[in-house]
Amino acid sequence: MAGGAFVDTSGVRNYEGKVTAFVLITCFVAAMGGLLFGYDLGITGGVTSMDEFLIKFFPSVYKKMKDENHETNQYCKFDDQLLTLFTSSLYLAALIASFFAATSTRVWGRKASMFLGGFFFLIGALLNGLALNIEMLIIGRLLLGFGVGFCNQSVPVYLSEMAPANIRGALNIGFQMMITIGILAANLINYSTSKLKNGWRISLGVGAVPALVLCIGVICLEETPNSLIERGDHEKAKSMLKKIRGTKNVDEEFQDLVDASEEASKVDHPWKNISQPEYRPQLTFCSCIPFFQQLTGINVIMFYAPVLFKILGFGDDASLMSAVISGGVNVVATLVSVFTVDKFGRRILFLEGGTQMFICQVIIGIMIAAKFGLTGQGSFSKGEADVLLFFICAYVAAFAWSWGPLGWLVPSEICALEVRPAGQAINVAVNMFFTFIIAQVFLTMLCHLKFGLFFFFAGFVVIMTVFIGLLLPETKNVPIEEMNRVWKSHWFWTRFVPDQVVVGGNNKKVSP
Ligand code: BGC
Repeated sequence: MAGGAFVDTSGVRNYEGKVTAFVLITCFVAAMGGLLFGYDLGITGGVTSMDEFLIKFFPSVYKKMKDENHETNQYCKFDDQLLTLFTSSLYLAALIASFFAATSTRVWGRKASMFLGGFFFLIGALLNGLALNIEMLIIGRLLLGFGVGFCNQSVPVYLSEMAPANIRGALNIGFQMMITIGILAANLINYSTSKLKNGWRISLGVGAVPALVLCIGVICLEETPNSLIERGDHEKAKSMLKKIRGTKNVDEEFQDLVDASEEASKVDHPWKNISQPEYRPQLTFCSCIPFFQQLTGINVIMFYAPVLFKILGFGDDASLMSAVISGGVNVVATLVSVFTVDKFGRRILFLEGGTQMFICQVIIGIMIAAKFGLTGQGSFSKGEADVLLFFICAYVAAFAWSWGPLGWLVPSEICALEVRPAGQAINVAVNMFFTFIIAQVFLTMLCHLKFGLFFFFAGFVVIMTVFIGLLLPETKNVPIEEMNRVWKSHWFWTRFVPDQVVVGGNNKKVSP
């Protein structure tokens, strides 16, 4: 995404090739795709906490929020289905669009999908910025969702196909980094526009700028050699590869691309493949990892931090500032994972991150319980609010170096070619679906479960940490074609994985 990011860390081979202007423009455009996703993810929380926005579109929520007589339980002040639909509708649209995007990326090429994504972003941002009524607002969000669906599908594919192999992994995690930078940018913009008259229009409309840059950038880009081969134009593909790599010496890489394309075209039944018993580990992780990633509760903070801080009695300014701080922590901590994931491995990050998230959630839950109890009346002193913010940031940091990037990396690196399309589709769809659910029900759950909501997520963090501890083998530095060896030597998965695995209808020995 982002979706989500599709990192290919399979036994990287180095071919001759320079970092050419094409590669640089590619990085720039890909960066815009990630930035836009992050921006739309982070912008709604601040906007929904702005008075003018609430008065215009959600007057009943505004009345409840200003309820000076304290008739409404504090936990329930923002519990409004239409308000949450404003945030969540994007993910539903992204889920639907990603199904179409997979086909358009293959049939029309990567450029067309990226352009379409950028165009949806552009119109969605303009509709939102100029919104006169709730319909314009929701339709705008749906269009942004289509943008997310198309871009999260096509940009990472484009990125892996254009980048020279030796910087491919770094670029893919770079896409994740841009998502967190987009979230931070949204928080910063909300912080500055909240002081302006109708500042929410600027917050929502500013997304049109990177969208326009994305559209123009895509026009300047070339189609990837892989896509041209896939669509039968081998000659053009070869001359394109020479141009991109800045060398005439591309025969070996070109042949590998043709072979890979032929291999992929033999895979007619990725869905059937992944349902076979020998792919049980891939099916399990591609469905459970995105589910658990969302059940960490991270998007409660990403979507609703300013609202949450307001509910907890922070002032308007302090609420938006706190969101900026947690957004900054998110970016820096993602950087930590970039530098440690191949050194310490995935398991250490997952287990440490899970433990840290659990401790923070329990402390946050206890602090809120002690202050607000069940009645929801109370507020934090400045010192207490600082302590609370510290634990929220420690929780965000733990997520950002574990489940954040690994939630996308691990499902993509465990799937060999014969199940990759199905594995990725399941991963993105499950992620978007549960992002939608969390966005839609969080404020209602907070109203009913009160401080218990934090224990609810903490409980899930325990389950997912045990799940990883028991079931995920270390995949650091394992080329995809050797992944079978990892399952084979795992105490649980060994029973599912035979020595021979059927690939594209041919019996192929995968590993001894
Ligand atoms: C998740 C998003 C989340 C983001 C926060 C991503 O890995 O998929 O749902 O909002 O991380 O940085």
